[in-house]
Amino acid sequence: MIIHQFSSQQELNEAGAGIIAALVQTKPDAVLGLATGSTPIGIYEELVKAYKKGRVSFKSVSTYNLDEYVGLPVDHPESYHSYMNQHLFSHIDAAPERIRIPNGNAADLKEECASYNRELEGVKQVDLQILGLGHNGHIGFNEPADSLQNGTHLVELDHKTREANARFFPSIDDVPTHALTMGVGTILKAKMLLLVVRGADKAEILHRALTGPITTQCPASLLQTHPNLVVLLDAEAGRLF
Ligand code: GLP
Repeated sequence: MIIHQFSSQQELNEAGAGIIAALVQTKPDAVLGLATGSTPIGIYEELVKAYKKGRVSFKSVSTYNLDEYVGLPVDHPESYHSYMNQHLFSHIDAAPERIRIPNGNAADLKEECASYNRELEGVKQVDLQILGLGHNGHIGFNEPADSLQNGTHLVELDHKTREANARFFPSIDDVPTHALTMGVGTILKAKMLLLVVRGADKAEILHRALTGPITTQCPASLLQTHPNLVVLLDAEAGRLF
């Protein structure tokens, strides 16, 4: 595990974007695992800048998003489809046919998960998976539980997760109750994991995830087992290290 701590958000964003751009420059058909939430936004902004300056092209890249809410229309401003278009895809040259986000409106959600899993199995390996960290230690939408699932699956969101995400909706009642998420097994198969964590409110859970016992009650603690985990932190999130 390599931990980099930054004193400014800008430095963190540039470092994160730099790692992703360097990968795509050396491997133009790289497979990227993408995350949503507030954490990666600044990194996506720096990637867009790099693209606009002609430093990197995404035209041969394939992308797989970690998760999506169930039941939000794709054009709902808080769907992860909208998020990805707003923060990344509408600004770069990624090929729409190589962009994949779980469809939380599929008539058959089980089949949607199975087909997402088949596609991911068809890809030899995700080259780089970006991850944020939930306040309860979740990654993607893999919530703390007695056991965790390997592949993409339907999950009921924790009350804590819905509370944390209520800031993006008119009220907590408007936050979806379910989501589709890649499983921890799939996440851990990526060649490299880029965990990004910001803010004092994540300091304790981050410390527990990276130094505490490996337990399904803190899904991010399983990241300790990955041979190529890179962690980018701001000073607030890193204050217990
Ligand atoms: C969300 C997403 C996760 C994200 C996490 C942290 O619910 N499903 O992929 O990493 O929670 O979000 P944020 O970056 O806004 O703190």
